[in-house]
Amino acid sequence: MSVLFQTVINTGRLYSLRKTLNASSYCKCVTVRRFSDVPSKFKTFDEVVTQRRQEARRSIVVQVNSDSSFKELYSYCSKYASVSGVHHYKNNAEEHFMLIEFGSEENLKDVLRSCSSHHKDLDVMALQSPFLWFRAVSGKKEILTVPDDKSLLITNGTLPVDEDQLFAELLACETVSDQIQTLYDKTMLNDLGIRLRYMVARQLEIMFDSLYANIAVRPFGSSVNGFGRIGCDLDLVLTNVLTEELSDPEKRLVYQEKKCEGGRSPWQRHMELVGELLELRVPGVTRVQRILHARVPIVKYAHDLAGLDVDLCYSNMSGIYMSELLWLFGSLDPRVRPLTFAVRRWAQTVGLTNPHPGRWITNFPLTLMVLFFLQQKTKDGFVLPSFKYLIRKAEKDDIKLAEDNVNCTFLRDLNKLPTESYAQSSSNLQSLLLQFFEFYSQFDFNDKAISINEGTPVRKPNALPLYIVNPLEQALNVSRNVSYEECERLRTEVRNAAWQLESSSEGSKGDDWGLLGLLERRTTRGLKKLLRVGNSHRLVSVKDLFNEKEDDKQDSLRSKLQRLTKTDKEVDQSVKEMKVAMIKEERKEQKLKFKNSQVANEVYRIRRDKIV
Ligand code: GTP
Ligand code: MG
Repeated sequence: MSVLFQTVINTGRLYSLRKTLNASSYCKCVTVRRFSDVPSKFKTFDEVVTQRRQEARRSIVVQVNSDSSFKELYSYCSKYASVSGVHHYKNNAEEHFMLIEFGSEENLKDVLRSCSSHHKDLDVMALQSPFLWFRAVSGKKEILTVPDDKSLLITNGTLPVDEDQLFAELLACETVSDQIQTLYDKTMLNDLGIRLRYMVARQLEIMFDSLYANIAVRPFGSSVNGFGRIGCDLDLVLTNVLTEELSDPEKRLVYQEKKCEGGRSPWQRHMELVGELLELRVPGVTRVQRILHARVPIVKYAHDLAGLDVDLCYSNMSGIYMSELLWLFGSLDPRVRPLTFAVRRWAQTVGLTNPHPGRWITNFPLTLMVLFFLQQKTKDGFVLPSFKYLIRKAEKDDIKLAEDNVNCTFLRDLNKLPTESYAQSSSNLQSLLLQFFEFYSQFDFNDKAISINEGTPVRKPNALPLYIVNPLEQALNVSRNVSYEECERLRTEVRNAAWQLESSSEGSKGDDWGLLGLLERRTTRGLKKLLRVGNSHRLVSVKDLFNEKEDDKQDSLRSKLQRLTKTDKEVDQSVKEMKVAMIKEERKEQKLKFKNSQVANEVYRIRRDKIV
């Protein structure tokens, strides 16, 4: 099954094929394919990364006046080199850009040799960068030579899907499985998003080339692990690449090297330098923040030309191998990524995850929870093998060590896995999502840890509320930051979600049937946040507060908060926040009653069903 879908995904035909399949035909097609004698090949992570890096090496990003600049730009560039494709996007400031891929790296060099610098001063310090702009011609216009069959491959290619349109499409789906697949298809990071992320990495690599003989800048995390959505942040790592050439003991001429002196870690000092260089030299970089005293020092910045937020760290190969591992699990079965998207989106909706770091769970451990669930042997069979199975199947080429000798050895070529070791469950996405919520509703978080290495619950080695074993360093817990309250909320929310999904998938299809009941529109998000008053005390039910008599409200509020918070000061602050929110809410309700009955209904619906 996965073999068939892998091929389809690779050729980009999944969407049209999916439309013709409903949940049951999906399973039939699975059975047919498994016994086919034309096995298609899984790509390895390295193959994909190499291809993306090569694409970036023959591409540039050019700022233009608008998408109608295409013909002029195409015509101009094709004078220097053969153009393979042009993609258009706009950044957050609504400026227009075109990412152009040329036929070869040599082609790109020819184009870059034709570039000029804006300034005429002799002391200007120009920097070679693949981010350029297209100057308007002075004098007469050139004749444009653009073949009829050439056009932009995509226009406005990084724009997230319009939420109203997405919800309309989800509403029109026939099954919950279709809804989950549609959510994935419409929100996953697209080809242009991935290309742009590799361009931002390439820009740094070009700059560092003049300072370091052996540096590579590589994306990791959701930009490359197959679980990224449009607009996700870009995690980058600067790595030393010890090529065979550089480490050849036969070579007698050896580079003199600069020893790093002084007490502080050389990494911290490198990252300090990187921060300075980014600020001073790299076009597009703004808002540089140095976080150098963390366990993994990072430099955060915004790339305005690419419209991305970037986290750059130094020498973190285990981050890359972790991304590879997630990518492999996501490739093994076509249900893994859509299911994870649905879970991530639901977690964001109910406020379990949050873009800011804190005491809550983040997308990475949440993804491990989905993978772990898919490893369970249910009556329908399992979807994914355990990680220790992939380790057992590893061959000589798979032996990899990261920093501090962290062993990152596991099978990379999925074609070598016996077909009976994965995708044994025939459950559709709807059933898997419900099973996911039910599984974690019953999970013994008090005594058990989640380990994708074992694929079964293991004993918790300590009393931390949530224990998710780091697959590459099993002594570590990737959810060590999660507080008791947040873990309790997770348990409550999975139970709510199981109930919600089950009840909204039955009977007639209302405007929140199926997946819609678990998600929310951006337009009502602010309102829902308000209803979940006092974000830091999310366990308090606002519905209860509204149901109580006015006189009782404050005392009850205080006692509820006291159960959840530690100091009187915190309680006072929270009571204050809640009172303000309640007044606002009451005012809003008044307004809504008179202004818009549809929104008033929405408020009622939210209050009735969703407040926790
Ligand atoms: P989003 O950015 O939320 O879309 O997901 P992400 O997977 O990119 O997560 P994040 O940016 O938080 O982290 C980037 C990558 O760092 C993850 O994909 C993991 O590979 C790795 N990572 C994140 N948190 C941990 C952790 O607690 N321990 C370890 N070892 N690696 C982590
Ligand atoms: Mg990330």
